[in-house]
Amino acid sequence: MQREQWGSRLGFILAAVGSAIGLGNIWRFPYMAYENGGGAFFIPYLFAMLTAGIPFMIMEFSLGHKMRGAAPQVFARLGRRLEWLGWFQVFVAFAIAVYYVAVIGWSISYLGFSFTQSWGADPNAFFFTEYLQLVDGSAPSNLGALQSHIVVPVVIAWLITFSAVFTGVKGGIERASKIMMPLLFIMVLGLIVRMAFLPGALDGLNYLFKPDFSKILDAKVWSAAYGQIFFTLSVGFAIMLAYSSYLPKESDINNNAFMTVLINCGFSIMAGMMIFGILGYMAHSSGKEITEVVSAGVGLAFITIPTAINLLPAPYILGPLFFLALTVAGLSSMISIVEAVTSAVIDKSGWSRRKAASIVCGIALIISLSFTRNGGLLLLDVVDHFMNNVGILGSCLAQLLIVGWMVKILPELRERANNLSEFRIGAWFEFCLRFLSPALLIIIVGTNLITLIRDGYGDYSQFDMMTFGWGLIAMMIVMAVIVRKLPTAQTTNEEA
Ligand code: ALA
Repeated sequence: MQREQWGSRLGFILAAVGSAIGLGNIWRFPYMAYENGGGAFFIPYLFAMLTAGIPFMIMEFSLGHKMRGAAPQVFARLGRRLEWLGWFQVFVAFAIAVYYVAVIGWSISYLGFSFTQSWGADPNAFFFTEYLQLVDGSAPSNLGALQSHIVVPVVIAWLITFSAVFTGVKGGIERASKIMMPLLFIMVLGLIVRMAFLPGALDGLNYLFKPDFSKILDAKVWSAAYGQIFFTLSVGFAIMLAYSSYLPKESDINNNAFMTVLINCGFSIMAGMMIFGILGYMAHSSGKEITEVVSAGVGLAFITIPTAINLLPAPYILGPLFFLALTVAGLSSMISIVEAVTSAVIDKSGWSRRKAASIVCGIALIISLSFTRNGGLLLLDVVDHFMNNVGILGSCLAQLLIVGWMVKILPELRERANNLSEFRIGAWFEFCLRFLSPALLIIIVGTNLITLIRDGYGDYSQFDMMTFGWGLIAMMIVMAVIVRKLPTAQTTNEEA
């Protein structure tokens, strides 16, 4: 049976950009930059974008286009024994989906709160105590009770995601992306223009952009930058391989890849400007240093933005605009993450799209409810840290070693991309993917593993780290190997 295809070139670009742009741009990029010294983070980020992000995107588009399958099938076609890496990537996507949807749930709640600014004068206390109900003694292994006011928006986010994945690439994702993406750009642009007039905003921008060469050799900053690039571009964890398997035969791969990366990272920088403008304004109003204004980490957007909204004119308009943008961005990425898992299940089992989507979303919904309990934020923090710093970076390194050194398919992929594209890419493509990025990733992943084993992460107990960090990663590898051994269905039944 013929594989489904994107309806048009614009449809694919919008869907790829819709996947890339998400919570990673508005929620994760700013706090990664904030925690890693602002300008100190920016140079490694741009370096990672140019030398890893762009060539990786071209590689994934070419691989998906050539192999016409989801991640496990792509790797299986490179070598039967390599299929496990595709499944590992699918499990990383699954693990990300179950906590990503929780953050979309928070965003939906805040969309509601923002009409009346019901977070009050102390958004920090509101977020942790009133909204999340994060009580003393909570831990990833001591989650407490389900919070029905968080369960409801999370279920809403699942229903939207499910209906898009259930109806297939053309009906759901493409149509949604066409409406969502332009809307989102306009909203964030509007907010930046508004921010630019606030006192102190320029100090915030200065903090984001002013290079800090004293941290240029800090492996932690480089790890954060590479992890952020792969996460934000949706590469290395099954998504773009699945999306590009729906590309029509004649597709300008180089152009599509450059546009996706540049639009996404340009948008991250826009979102960063918006948030750092707010931070600068908050620092100015409270007389504090920018580095002291917010509690860093997972809650950043949900503490700083409401604080800023309280200080704006017409907060009942600008507030909902921001949280609508965050929700829309999150949903279009969420759809792509779940699509990566669903299409892998379809390819392997031969199930109909409807059956696969129902089973994947059903199981994921149940697991994601763990993140709606009192201690959900702590569980999310640990899982996110391990998925990004160990899961995604490790899987990207393995992918580069397989493609560049074992199967040695890079020259063929470059030739293929060039034959299909308006402009040709040079030997830098192979240099970046075969030498530069693997070398840097070996250093980064190696340093991460040593630091995590030696120092742990945050204040979490050894038990929590072993269970929800290392244990989860180990389980995903074992499951990937087991699923690889299961028989693959001969035909796929996409439309049934
Ligand atoms: N690329 C998606 C994001 O940045 C996962 O949110």
